[in-house]
This record gives sequence, C-alpha cells and structure tokens, in this order.
Amino acid sequence: MPEPGANEDTGTQQVPPEINTNVPQSARVYDYWLGGKDHFPADRALGDAIAEALPTIRTQVRAQRAFLGRAVRYLTRDAGIRQYLDIGTGIPSAGNVHDVAQEVAPESRVLYVDNDPIVLAHARALMAGTAEGPVAFIQADLREPETILSDPAVAGTLDLDQPVGLVLIGVMHHLRDDDDPRRIVATLVDALAPGSYLVLSQSTPDFDPDAMRALAAASEQGGIPNVPRSLADTEPFFAGLELVEPGLVPMATWRPDPGAEQDPRSVYAYGGVARKP
Ligand SMILES: C[S@@+](CC[C@H](N)C(=O)[O-])C[C@H]1O[C@@H](n2cnc3c(N)ncnc32)[C@H](O)[C@@H]1O
Repeated sequence: MPEPGANEDTGTQQVPPEINTNVPQSARVYDYWLGGKDHFPADRALGDAIAEALPTIRTQVRAQRAFLGRAVRYLTRDAGIRQYLDIGTGIPSAGNVHDVAQEVAPESRVLYVDNDPIVLAHARALMAGTAEGPVAFIQADLREPETILSDPAVAGTLDLDQPVGLVLIGVMHHLRDDDDPRRIVATLVDALAPGSYLVLSQSTPDFDPDAMRALAAASEQGGIPNVPRSLADTEPFFAGLELVEPGLVPMATWRPDPGAEQDPRSVYAYGGVARKP
C-alpha cells in the first residue's frame, strides 16, 4: 500500500514531461524510505525489494540525514563555513543543508546539484533561500564535475575564492569505479579555496557483506547503480586533505549527538569530514 498522500499512479499527477515515473529513481526511492510523498509505484516496488535485502534500510537512511545535519552544523558553527556545494541533493526533506547551516548562520549560501529533474522541480518549489542567504539549484551530473564547476550558477551563488563546504552524502555509491570517482572528487576539491571542506559518505560491505551484496543486486536490477566500498576504497576520496576528528569512521560514530549514540556497526556506511590545507 502506498503511504498516505503518496502518488498513487501517474495518470492524475502534474508531472513534468521530462520525468519518467515508470522507472525507479534514487531520489524517489530514498524519499519513500524517508516517509515523503514524492514517489511512484516503480519507486516503491524497488524500495520494498531493497528493504527485503536490508530490513534496516529506513534506519540507515535516517542515519545518513543525521550525519548530514551533524557535519553541516559542525562546519558552520565550528569551522566558519558560510557556503556549500551539495551534490546529490535528493528530494527536499527535513534538515536540508541550507536549513541546518542557516539555523547557525543565516547568511549561509547553498548551491544544490542533482541529476534527477524531479529533485529540481521539488527543490524550486520547496527550498527557498533568503536575500541574506540565497540558495540555487542546478540539474547536472556528478560524473561531469567540469560541467558543474563551469555552470554560471556556481559563480552566481558561491565565491570560489573563499572556503566552501563540498557535500557528497549518499551519492558516491551511485558512481561506478569506471566513472573514476576519485578523479571526480579531486576535480571538485581542486577548484575550491584552501580552508574548504569535503563531507563525504560511502556505503560499505564491511559490516554485513551479504546484506549489502543483496542490496546492491536489487538496486542494480532496478537500474540504479549501487557500489558499496570498503574502508580502503573510501579513504582515497580524502587524498591530500586533513581529516578532522574522529577521521573517516563508521558514519554513526562521527561526532554523535549526546544521547543519540548508535551501535557503530548498525549503519553500513563510512562518513568523514576533511579540510583542504
Ligand atoms: C540517496 S539520495 C541522497 C540525498 C542526500 N544527499 C542525503 O544525504 O540525504 C542520492 C541522490 O543523488 C542523486 N544522484 C545520483 N547519481 C547522481 C549523479 N551522477 N549526479 C548527480 N546526482 C546524482 C540522486 O538523484 C539522488 O537525489
């Protein structure tokens, strides 16, 4: 059964023509797990198939949103970051990057990037910046970092001469090794000023290889690339950067909020925050 308020079918929805609701999309499957309303039968079918492979998937995605909150709050409050480039944004949910940053510093600016047109449609409708803290959105592909960096919205929203928080949460597993994800991250980091930070998460088979193998297979069967990586294969994304304490760690253990500590091995992802010297 669809969740209350969820899209029952595609026939009566005001769906922009470029959005194909017949094939599952990562952002909408993720929205389904998070209890949002912006998903269709194909997304729910894949979401359920993945939940069969990994019954704790909803806990996992909520843990990922919580990591986003902790990392962006840390960067804004403790590291003085006032502008963010968030790639692989997802459909707006509670606690988006600008919500977290602007709670600490209302002048924080954010450029959101996602390759799914439905994300852009919802982002434009739901995520409003302010005159003091503008937000902007572009549809672009992480696999083409040069295209992202040369988009006029980058110069229009961010000052690349000043430190930027580059946020890559819950998106690296959509890149295949053939996409050369290390080069992609390095290209983005190279374009940022010293004092910038990288926030990155990566799902991993290290804690429950069988479940993650089944999850990846279900996702791939649904047409969505899914590449969990070991710690050794995740570390190189931070090459040349200075990891802040506690380092690249099981995501649940990255500066957990007091009283909200989780079993480190219950969330199958690594998370880290690092400074560009
Ligand atoms: C699992 S959601 C993560 C959302 C959000 N970052 C978070 O942590 O809550 C992954 C998002 O990455 C986007 N995505 C997947 N591959 C991408 C690519 N190659 N370029 C840009 N965005 C991509 C999907 O459309 C989806 O919105």
